[in-house]
Amino acid sequence: MIETKEFDYEDRIVAPQIIKSDSDDAERSLRPKTLSEYIGQEKVKRNLSIYIEAARKRSEPLDHVLLYGPPGLGKTTLSAIIAHEMGVNIRITSGPAIEKPGDLAALLTNLQEGDVLFIDEIHRLSRSIEEVLYPALEDFAIDIIIGKGPAARSIRLDLPKFTLIGATTRAGQLTSPLRDRFGVIQRLELYSNEELCEIVQRSSLILGAACDRDGAYELASRSRGTPRIANRLLKRVRDFADVMGDGVITKDIAKLALDRMEIDPLGLDSLDKRMLTMIIKGYGGGPVGLDTLASAIGEEAVTLEDVCEPFLMQLGFLARTPRGRCATELAYRHLGILNDGQTTLEI
Ligand code: ADE
Repeated sequence: MIETKEFDYEDRIVAPQIIKSDSDDAERSLRPKTLSEYIGQEKVKRNLSIYIEAARKRSEPLDHVLLYGPPGLGKTTLSAIIAHEMGVNIRITSGPAIEKPGDLAALLTNLQEGDVLFIDEIHRLSRSIEEVLYPALEDFAIDIIIGKGPAARSIRLDLPKFTLIGATTRAGQLTSPLRDRFGVIQRLELYSNEELCEIVQRSSLILGAACDRDGAYELASRSRGTPRIANRLLKRVRDFADVMGDGVITKDIAKLALDRMEIDPLGLDSLDKRMLTMIIKGYGGGPVGLDTLASAIGEEAVTLEDVCEPFLMQLGFLARTPRGRCATELAYRHLGILNDGQTTLEI
C-alpha cells in the first residue's frame, strides 16, 4: 500500500527551505563571510572573484548578478559575501514581498551608491513590478507617475548606481527581458560529499561540537548535496552524541541518529521514496507527468520539481523525458523493487 499523507515542510528535517528550527542566529553564525571561507561552488567563486576585483579596480558597482539552482545551496550567503567583498551594504527582500511598484520604488530610492539589492525568488515578481525594475537596472532611474487622469505626469528619478542580485530556483520562469538585464548569470550545483564534509567540520568547530572525520562524512553523505540540510542534521546528530554517546559525533553515532530520523544512507527521506515508489508501483516505472504524480502522492508539483528531482536526478534515480518522469534501474535497485514491481525488501 502506498501511503499518501499530506506532507508539511515543518515535518521534513531534510527540507532544503529554511524551516522554523533553523533559528536565525544559529543559521547566520554558520554562514561564511568571505569567498575564501566559502566551501565548494569553485567555478562560481573563481568567476565572481574576477568580476569583483575588476569592479573594485574600476571603482564601479558590480554588474547585476543572477544566481540560480536548487534551494539551500547558499544563494543568500553568496550574495552577502559579494556585498562584503565589494565593501557595500546589502538589502534583502524577495519577489513575493514586493507587492506594489511603490514597494520597489521605496527600496530603490533608499539604496546608497554601490549597494547590493538582493531579491530572492525573483521569478515571483509581478509584471508591473518588473516594468519598474527595467529602467532601474539599465539607466539607474525610475519613472514615477504623479497624479491621476489627464493631469497625471511622469517624472524620472535618478537612483544611486547599485547591483541587483536575483536568486531563483527556477531560471526558466524568468521573463527574457529580465534575464537579459543580468550581466552575470551563475548556476549553483549540488555539493559533493567531500565538500559537505568540509562544511560539517567547519560548522562543528563554530558550534563547539566534537565531530570526527568519518562522522562528518556520514552526515555529509546523507545531506542531499545541500549545506543547509547538513548544518541542520549536524545539530540533531549532536543531540544524539550528547545523550547516547560521549558527545563526539562518530560514524556510528551519526548512523544511529540518521537512521532514527529515517534518512536513508543516500539521504533519501520518505517523500523521495514515496515519489519513486509511486512512479514504479503506480505507473509501471513511468513515464508519468509531474502534475499527475504530484496529485497521486498529495504533494505540490513545485516541491517535487525543486526539491526532490534535482537530488534524485543527481543520484541517477530519476529521468526527465518529454513524456514524463521515469524511475531508473538504479532506483529500483536502491528501493529493493524488482523490475516486475515485486518487492524484494521491506521498504
Ligand atoms: N555553511 C553553509 N554553506 C557553506 C559553504 N558553502 N561554505 C562554508 N560554510 C557553509
